[in-house]
Amino acid sequence: MSSTPTMQPRQPRPQSERGGIVVLDFGGQYTQLIARRIREQQVFSAVLPCNSSLEKIKAFEPAGIVLSGGPSSVYDPQAPKCDPNVLSIGVPVLGICYGMQWITHTLGGKVVNAGRQEYGRASLDRSCGTARPESEIFAGVPQSLRIWNNHGDHVHTLPEGFHATAMTENAIAAVEHAGKKIYAVQFHPEVNHTENGTQILRNFLFRVCHAEPKWSGAAFIEETTQAIKEKVGEKWAICALSGGVDSTVAAVLVHRVMGEKLTNIFVNTGMLRKNEFADTLEMLRDRLHLKVIGVDASDRFLEKLKGVSDPERKRKIIGGEFIAVFAEEAQKLQKGDAHGEIGFLVQGTLYPDVIESVSVKGPSATIKTHHNVGGLPENMPFALIEPLRDLFKDEVRRIGKDLGLPSEILLKHPFPGPGLAVRLLGEISREPLVTLQDADAIVTEEIRSAGLYEKVWQAFAVLLPVRSVGVMGDDRTYGLTVAVRVVQSDDAMTADWVRLPGDVLERISTRIVNEVRGVTRVVYDISSKPPSTIEWE
Ligand code: XMP
Repeated sequence: MSSTPTMQPRQPRPQSERGGIVVLDFGGQYTQLIARRIREQQVFSAVLPCNSSLEKIKAFEPAGIVLSGGPSSVYDPQAPKCDPNVLSIGVPVLGICYGMQWITHTLGGKVVNAGRQEYGRASLDRSCGTARPESEIFAGVPQSLRIWNNHGDHVHTLPEGFHATAMTENAIAAVEHAGKKIYAVQFHPEVNHTENGTQILRNFLFRVCHAEPKWSGAAFIEETTQAIKEKVGEKWAICALSGGVDSTVAAVLVHRVMGEKLTNIFVNTGMLRKNEFADTLEMLRDRLHLKVIGVDASDRFLEKLKGVSDPERKRKIIGGEFIAVFAEEAQKLQKGDAHGEIGFLVQGTLYPDVIESVSVKGPSATIKTHHNVGGLPENMPFALIEPLRDLFKDEVRRIGKDLGLPSEILLKHPFPGPGLAVRLLGEISREPLVTLQDADAIVTEEIRSAGLYEKVWQAFAVLLPVRSVGVMGDDRTYGLTVAVRVVQSDDAMTADWVRLPGDVLERISTRIVNEVRGVTRVVYDISSKPPSTIEWE
């Protein structure tokens, strides 16, 4: 399997990916957001580690380069670095936050630890730049605006030939050397909290780099299918299909090219939502016409999980067992007469999976190891096809829509690989699993009938190993507790709890206590991520 968290340049780049922007990652938490904001302008963007070779960068034939933010100080000996020649390969450069500090430091200016650090909102004032011609970067942007900052160091002395184009109360907020087409901002134009941030990025793309807005879902589909065609040749492929939007979009894309040569394997781990196995199989086979093998391995999973309550062990056991089931099925296929040589494994890996899973020195640090990328063993005898590896969830949904996928799949809430195992706290067995499935189905039904399903990121139930006293009829009860979790998010990296209307909460609570045997209490989770996570385990 691939061990790099970033894009692999293919040779040659497809037409719509040439003339895009290469974002060099210094490890900033917003790096991927920069790439996505650029794609929102129909300009292709690729994230590469900051220490990528010039050759690799040039292979993208970029119209410009963005240097991302990052948590380090440029004067730290371990600080991540780019090849300084990126500043002179003949395309414009935009440094953001650490990117600005690295440019300053590299070209002979001075960066110092800020006496007063700037985190969060600040006011930007452009009047310092008004004596000169209007900065291209700020064309059409008001003289003062609210911006979002996230830095402890700041630029003290500019490199030769540079001048400041904006200030905040405490620091130089933007600099440039228009002749060399090097621009830099200390704040984050990519985050929504920065007013006119999109305009600033658009100015860089279109006024400075003259990038062409030619990247689109249709172009992505056409070029990706072409690339898959070239890659697979005569070989066959298998796909671990979960019925979620990512793996389904990946499977449908590959199916377009390979048809019957792609076999999808859908494993019931026993940790799926109520009726999910049967419903999903039907959808995949009858409506999407995919070739799918449905494997009900729930007994096997439950057996392995007996007595286990540690979340990480649950994840590992489920991951390991999943791979074992998957490999057995692949072997059966391989031995079958009517099957060609399997050369490829299709996965619906997304960009956030990649960055959350793999730790690389410099670029975005590891947050979790739980996503599909980390789960596969090194010695899988198949090459990977990951057509969505550079995209975000909402981009995948758009591609899925262009491919004609039904909205039941496109708008389905994300569901973790270990499924209900990480929502059933403590030990897992069949009875509490059914309790959780029933409670969860009520949450989904009520959220749907309130017209909220498509407006929230995830809505689900968690079964807590906490018993509390209740009274039902004349009897005292001592039953289980269900926590309801409904969150809003853009990409699952941060999330906020949803302020559900009281009547919706009431219906959920009443129905769960009345309809789900053994549950006497329902609580609503009002924690955001960070510091909490979306899932409870
Ligand atoms: P957390 O709980 O980390 O979840 O805030 C972020 C997003 O990832 C999903 N998630 C998982 N997905 N395997 C997965 O494939 C996992 O082990 C896993 N744990 C969490 C979660 O549902 C949310 O969308």
